[in-house]
Amino acid sequence: MPAAGIGSRLGPGSPKALRSVAGEPLLLHAVRRLAACPSVGPVVVAAPPDRLPEVESLLAAYDVTVVAGGAERQESVAAGLAALPDEVELVLVHDAARAFVPVEVVEQVVAALRSGADAVVPVLPVADTVKRVDVNGEVVATVPREDLRTAQTPQGFRRSVLEQAHRSAPRQHTDDAALVEAIGVRIRTVEGSPEAFKVTAPFDLVLADALIARDGPRRPPGG
Ligand code: CTP
Ligand code: MG
Repeated sequence: MPAAGIGSRLGPGSPKALRSVAGEPLLLHAVRRLAACPSVGPVVVAAPPDRLPEVESLLAAYDVTVVAGGAERQESVAAGLAALPDEVELVLVHDAARAFVPVEVVEQVVAALRSGADAVVPVLPVADTVKRVDVNGEVVATVPREDLRTAQTPQGFRRSVLEQAHRSAPRQHTDDAALVEAIGVRIRTVEGSPEAFKVTAPFDLVLADALIARDGPRRPPGG
């Protein structure tokens, strides 16, 4: 779980994973959601390097290893990969910022991996009309959107495939599927969810609060 970003688009404040949403750090929401998924095993969190003790105590109740993240997301994912237990063969890479991903989406990604896919990405169709613009902000073209999808996480991989992609990565990519695409691996898609949105800008905090309010008080662990 890459969680080391600063959250510059949220504006000034703590690193994004440590921002409070409904009274708790975003990262706690994210880890709790993954821990509620029947197919998910141990979690490795790549945290802001200067906040490791704080993150460790925040997540002490969960089966979580905390490592220092890097300056770019891809480096954070690589640090997390390096800390995976030896026996792990299937890996999910999941943005801490997508803290409210439905359990069903996670389970679908795992199911696709278990049925033989090397790489799996949850996607959504594009709702808006898409324009290509030039440097002056003038519209150059309307891009047909029928075959466009936005990519979410968790993205699932056979571990060996993801490790190979990271070893041969020539440049930074914004998601892990792009790395795996670059080495020519076929990527399966499953249906994502609007609730797997990435907390990115201040409005997303409003959305997160609304989602938590809709779902009511959470049950205690095991309850
Ligand atoms: N991430 C990370 N290490 C980085 C950058 C990002 O682990 N060096 C993580 C973020 O913590 C987040 C996920 O990657 O969970 C997706 O990144 P993004 O939404 O871009 O988060 P930030 O980079 O923190 O936000 P911003 O780009 O607005 O600064
Ligand atoms: Mg970022």
